[in-house]
Amino acid sequence: MKISNLCLFILTLVTIRVSKVNGQSSPIVSLGSIKQADIKGQQVFIQTENGFGEISVYAPNIIRVRLDNRPFGKDISFAVIAKPQQVKVSIVQTGTEIKITTDSLEMRVNKSPFAVAVYTPDGKLINEDEKGLQTSWAGEEVTSYKKMQDGERFIGLGEKTGNLDRAGSGYTNWNSDTYGYHTDQDPIYSTIPFYIGIHHQLNYGILLDNTFQSDFNFGASNNRFSSFGARGGEMNYYVVYNKRLADIITSYTWLTGRMTMPPLWSLGYQQNRYSYYPEAEVMRIAQTLREKQIPADGITLDIHYMDAYKLFTWNKSRFPDPKGMTDRLKKMGIHTTVIVDPGIKVEKGYGAYERGMKEDVFLKYADGQPYTGQVWPGWVHFPDFTGEKGRAWWRNEIQTFANDGVSGLWNDMNEISTWGQKMPNNILYNYDGKITTNQEGRNVFGMQMARSSYEGMRAASNKRPFILTRSGYAGLQRYTAIWTGDNRSEDDHMLLGVRLMNSLGVSGVPFTGMDIGGFTGGASTALFARWMQIGAFIPYYRNHTAINTRSAEPWAYGEEVLEICRNYISLRYKLLPYLYSTFYEATQNGLPVMRTMAIDYTHDPRVYDTQFQNQYFFGKSLLVAPFESNKAVAKVYFPKGTWYDIYTGNIETGDQDKFVPLSLNKLPVYVKESSIIPMQSLVQTTMQKPTDTLVVNVYKGSVNNSFVYYEDDGETYDYEKGNYYKRTISYEPISKTISFGKSEGTFQSNFKKIKLVFHGFGLISSVKIDGQTTAVKDEFLSLLTPVSKFDPQGQSNQAEGYYVKTVIIESNNSVLKVTYK
Ligand code: NOJ
Repeated sequence: MKISNLCLFILTLVTIRVSKVNGQSSPIVSLGSIKQADIKGQQVFIQTENGFGEISVYAPNIIRVRLDNRPFGKDISFAVIAKPQQVKVSIVQTGTEIKITTDSLEMRVNKSPFAVAVYTPDGKLINEDEKGLQTSWAGEEVTSYKKMQDGERFIGLGEKTGNLDRAGSGYTNWNSDTYGYHTDQDPIYSTIPFYIGIHHQLNYGILLDNTFQSDFNFGASNNRFSSFGARGGEMNYYVVYNKRLADIITSYTWLTGRMTMPPLWSLGYQQNRYSYYPEAEVMRIAQTLREKQIPADGITLDIHYMDAYKLFTWNKSRFPDPKGMTDRLKKMGIHTTVIVDPGIKVEKGYGAYERGMKEDVFLKYADGQPYTGQVWPGWVHFPDFTGEKGRAWWRNEIQTFANDGVSGLWNDMNEISTWGQKMPNNILYNYDGKITTNQEGRNVFGMQMARSSYEGMRAASNKRPFILTRSGYAGLQRYTAIWTGDNRSEDDHMLLGVRLMNSLGVSGVPFTGMDIGGFTGGASTALFARWMQIGAFIPYYRNHTAINTRSAEPWAYGEEVLEICRNYISLRYKLLPYLYSTFYEATQNGLPVMRTMAIDYTHDPRVYDTQFQNQYFFGKSLLVAPFESNKAVAKVYFPKGTWYDIYTGNIETGDQDKFVPLSLNKLPVYVKESSIIPMQSLVQTTMQKPTDTLVVNVYKGSVNNSFVYYEDDGETYDYEKGNYYKRTISYEPISKTISFGKSEGTFQSNFKKIKLVFHGFGLISSVKIDGQTTAVKDEFLSLLTPVSKFDPQGQSNQAEGYYVKTVIIESNNSVLKVTYK
């Protein structure tokens, strides 16, 4: 430390000790008033009575605020990858304030005391420090207090239990292994300290980028403020302002990064349990999926594939020929994912242990002894993924899986989970060279493990790996999908899972899943059927259950449930062009695949009503209404606009709620007016080619709409070099036109023809393709095959469906204009 910094530091400490409230010394220390502020380009460097500030404009709508009561330490972030953009900004300092103005917002920094407020360009208050409290320290813990606005709602914070609207609740981030967690338990597995505040037709986002245990209070036990803080480190937050909530997600993912294209197979159905073994059992499961015509693309191997849970080994009596098995599965159209746990067994002669010790990659105590904790293999050491040395070691070790033909890595137990669940805080983490304790390192460990897995698999070949994690930190979407851990086979958990994924979605993570059917306990028949239906409309469609629970494959609940599962898994496969294009959108603008209604209907209070809060959009167009499995009837809320029942084509008028009858054969799903939904013929695996006809469904509506259709080889990174096929499909009701834009990219589409399907258009007398009249056909459309007899209400199951008009178009790569009358 320089002498001048040292003096400042001592001065600051002295000042802290004498901080006073009403003449009494107070243990709560705030920054006090600004003593000096220097403007340099897009930044303001501040010195206050009790500390320091640094305010940086990252983008016209994103400002970073960094505060500390001591000189700033190293500026390291595992979340933020964006660098400040060159921005047109005016920063003006007067005797009382500093005004930072961009095209998108204005930040006013009050000088005495230091306090921050953010306004829209036309002067509406977005967010401001609560007067009198601002930012302060209680010991090492730092907190920023923001005035609670009238009627303010809060959404986000990643994988957090509770309601969609988090007003009135408080949360803690401390990544924890929470087997069979309760529906209001907090914390659980991962940390994403990003939330969106909504009030007075405005919305803004705040990311607190600090990996210490952090706390958020959205008016829990107080009626004055919302607050965010951490139990150590700096106050380091980013304020994001956009008019549309969707754009806040785009801004946030500009800061923290977006996912890359997933392998297409990972969007297919995945079968799992703890654990399938030996090989014959794995092959039997694969064979049964095929025999019973259950489309599927993946099997996941849980911890019993290993020799005594020793990572990077196979139990050779159970799996004598891993490469042979993964090859045989691939021939059946099934990819293999294996679980990887971070604990490396302490055992002389065990390769990974010996190599890890030699390379010195394990987490250590302050005295240099490796930390030893207990997990499946017994006593283990943990590689330090927060440092490059540990990550490089792991990248190298996992090549063994790539060589064995494994396509996916499932990163489990990475909170870090240890028996006893109390890792000592005096363990040191590299933390990209900073060297810190468990207090700061823990929350980022899981994400960095997933990162190492992703980077290692990516380096192994040009094939996209599937990476899954249980624990994570903000920005995890750059490397991995996430699932919500050890849920229970209960209705509440199924619905909580939906909310957890919706919340992860607004927190930048598009690729999410939950254990379908529930992990602990065994689902009832009705619950299992409902959960499998919902699964068809979530990003990662994996059925999983714990050891010693009943079988939970689609056929384990009898013939009727098997038919229900087949119906919905098949529907999922037909929807793959829509889903894959939706994932593409996530790679471009960060929008999630599963979207709470709050994204599009932010200021509609009914969206947050607890009876409707679980409804969500799957992609842009499909409104899914999940309900408990034992309900015979339920209320669905239809936001403003017109909605189509996906099965019957019946129209519902929006801006109202309505009772709908429920049957276990069917999950209520509705299509938004003006939607464009590309589909394909049924395949049993994504390795099988569908027919050469892309089915483009257009639903009549009153508003213009467009859909970016995207396709590539589904398995390599060649799309990054332009080998993709992309075209915009637009619908314009006024001119009665549906157009297909010129295609972009070098990839040849698998589809030679387009079948255009008109929904809700009534009589269409003529359709012209580029001016040429073409034949219009009437077709009966039915999405589900009647289920033999499962019907708790005693109703019969006729093939449900409706008539639509269709035309066939020879597709080419240039602009195509379809008009109809
Ligand atoms: C805990 C995981 O959450 C669960 O999914 C897995 O089956 C077990 N670990 C065993 O590996």
